[in-house]
Amino acid sequence: MFMKIFLQKTILFSCALIAMGGTVRADEGMWVPLLLQRNQAQMQRLGLQLTADDIYSINHSSLKDAVVIFGGGCTGEVVSDQGLVLTNHHCGFSYIQYHSSVEHDYLTNGFWAATMDEELPCPGLAVRFLKEMRDVTHSMLDGIDARYTENQRRDSIQARGKRLSEAFSQEGKTEVKVVPFYYGNQYYMFIYEVFTDVRLVGAPPSNIGKFGGDTDNWMWPRHTGDFSVFRIYAGKDNTPAPYSPDNKPYKPLRYLKIDLRGYEEGDFTFVFGYPGRTQEYLSSFGVRQILEQEDPMRIAARTARLEVIKAAMEKDPAVRIQYAAKAAGIANGWKKWIGEVKGIQRLNVIGSKQDYEKIFEDWTQSLNGEPYAGVLPALKKAYEEMAVCQTEAIVFQEHILAPEAVGFAYSFKKLCRVSKGEETGMKLEEALAECERKAEKFFKDYNAEVDRAIFERMIFQTHADGSFTQVIDFPDKNVGKAMETFYGKSLFTDPDRLRSFLNRYNAASYKEIEKDPLFKYADEVYGRYLHAVRPLVLQCQKQIDSLQRLYMKGQMALTESGDFATVMRVGLKPVGPLRNVGSEQLYPDANFTLRVAYGKVAGFSPADAVYYRPYTTIEGIMEKEDPGIYDYVVEDRLKELYANKDYGRYANALGEMPVAFVGTNHTTGGNSGSPVLNGEGNLIGINFDRCWEGTMSDIRYDSEMCRNIMLDIRYCLFIIDKFAGATRLVEEMDIIE
Ligand code: ARG
Ligand code: GLU
Repeated sequence: MFMKIFLQKTILFSCALIAMGGTVRADEGMWVPLLLQRNQAQMQRLGLQLTADDIYSINHSSLKDAVVIFGGGCTGEVVSDQGLVLTNHHCGFSYIQYHSSVEHDYLTNGFWAATMDEELPCPGLAVRFLKEMRDVTHSMLDGIDARYTENQRRDSIQARGKRLSEAFSQEGKTEVKVVPFYYGNQYYMFIYEVFTDVRLVGAPPSNIGKFGGDTDNWMWPRHTGDFSVFRIYAGKDNTPAPYSPDNKPYKPLRYLKIDLRGYEEGDFTFVFGYPGRTQEYLSSFGVRQILEQEDPMRIAARTARLEVIKAAMEKDPAVRIQYAAKAAGIANGWKKWIGEVKGIQRLNVIGSKQDYEKIFEDWTQSLNGEPYAGVLPALKKAYEEMAVCQTEAIVFQEHILAPEAVGFAYSFKKLCRVSKGEETGMKLEEALAECERKAEKFFKDYNAEVDRAIFERMIFQTHADGSFTQVIDFPDKNVGKAMETFYGKSLFTDPDRLRSFLNRYNAASYKEIEKDPLFKYADEVYGRYLHAVRPLVLQCQKQIDSLQRLYMKGQMALTESGDFATVMRVGLKPVGPLRNVGSEQLYPDANFTLRVAYGKVAGFSPADAVYYRPYTTIEGIMEKEDPGIYDYVVEDRLKELYANKDYGRYANALGEMPVAFVGTNHTTGGNSGSPVLNGEGNLIGINFDRCWEGTMSDIRYDSEMCRNIMLDIRYCLFIIDKFAGATRLVEEMDIIE
């Protein structure tokens, strides 16, 4: 019975595909470079002039040898035979800040090393080259019994992963990571070469690198020159070595050529980098949890927190500087989630997941042995259990920890433990010195009045209907009195009080910390979170992970079975798990491993009657210019170049100076700094953001509304060469005109 319907509908479906113009959807997906053969034909049809092997190979140099993990969460690309690396300004930001001081304010003014000797070492910064990736699913999963408990399974997998890593890593040279794919249905091993002598070479002033600031963040049209320049240095034999003045610029296996010939709307592009996390295969229950609980709670909490911070920043220029980076961080997630909620609603993701779940359940009924039967109801129940502890966890993260003094006070617990002899790994002087450093760093960007205002505001949660509930409890029920003691008396809200305390600190002084009202409060809230809330969340999460693993396996099996007939029955758009109709597999969710996303340069229509062209120019910078608003100040030098139309070889065919462009490449956080390549595999841009209307692509991609935002490489080189005069850098590059 099932087979017959299956066949009929498959035929029907194929006809429908042809009727749709035979166009296979091309934009969604973050593909595994090792398996790119499977995409090759389609990519070539869309405009790729290379083979999959030119992009990823372990037998000869390939484009992958020019792509790096930059620092902890970004991507970068090598653009010269002397190890020059491009990434985003926001990815290099903390290193630029590290080298900045009042005398040398590189954040404000930019920085350009005139010679290699002036390039600045960046302690803590590393870049990682992928040498090889391997499918290790068999070594990881063979023999793991379905009857294992989750803990047994986890222990066994950890042990196997550790054995593999040890067998393949070389001390100080390579790093090996074994990473789950498809929620643990497959495993891959990644071997990286790690370079730790990476130096800052150049950065534009922030009013170029961060032009538009938080107002323009996640927005199109965009005019941010979001790039910075670094160089990798190597030791003897061109191999990784810790920083040394004797190290030499690294000679890469491969560097990217830069293409100044530009692009047209519709041209093929691909983004090669490290997307961090997506959740394309959640159940409707998982999406509902994000849509109705997690996102709204976090958005409301941050709206309130940002209101307090912004008001204080507007009143006091000192606060504006102190809180700029904090506000940017808080606002980044806040704005993304707002876009995500709207996108999920607009696409009716829950409804289409529910339709899919009906198909899934019908299909499981038809299977012998029903391996997946019951997985969806079990997931539903698991999310219901999660909802309760999740609320408390979010209250802790977004409300309780919003006043920074709470986390800061709690961090002195270590000093207490060392003083009491409970922690023997550290001497008291060391612990004390650590606290002094921490205090100095903390108070540099801290304003107690602002923090208090945040605290008072975060005690309450605002609901959609405008009502409030109190979500933070006090030992002392009187809020005003609690605030007086926290901010008027505690050691942890005043630099002078803390300094003089630390100056007279002796082994018995921990008692004063333990008596401190704010410390007592912090200890209690952390205690509750760490010992009651978090264990519950982890337990629920383990349950969900295990069910989601089974559900993922089922979704893959359904896709591979080819029974897409059912898709037609419910008239679904072939997106999400249904996207790869007739192809062999679903792309795995992003997990901060190297991926290829491909699509085309394309404008879009975010609202009725509105159409966005796919590229911006320097004209828009001048339109946005506002000397009174920090984020929209334009440098005189840039205005001069603009006035003279002095764009040199970096202008486009129309004589315009292009700044940024958008495309349909499926990207996410972590893709920042990723190279954007054309059909020939040459660099045409640097990825740095997504459009707000499409941030739900982490959960459901939509080729009509999802756009990644890229810096035009011509603007990047124009700034380096014409604006900053750092022509020596451009001379290192291989440029196609
Ligand atoms: N939205 C980009 C990302 O997710 C850029 C963030 C940095 N810029 C900012 N204005 N906060 O990382
Ligand atoms: N700015 C993001 C990053 O730092 C990329 C934007 C996105 O989420 O797509 O990785």
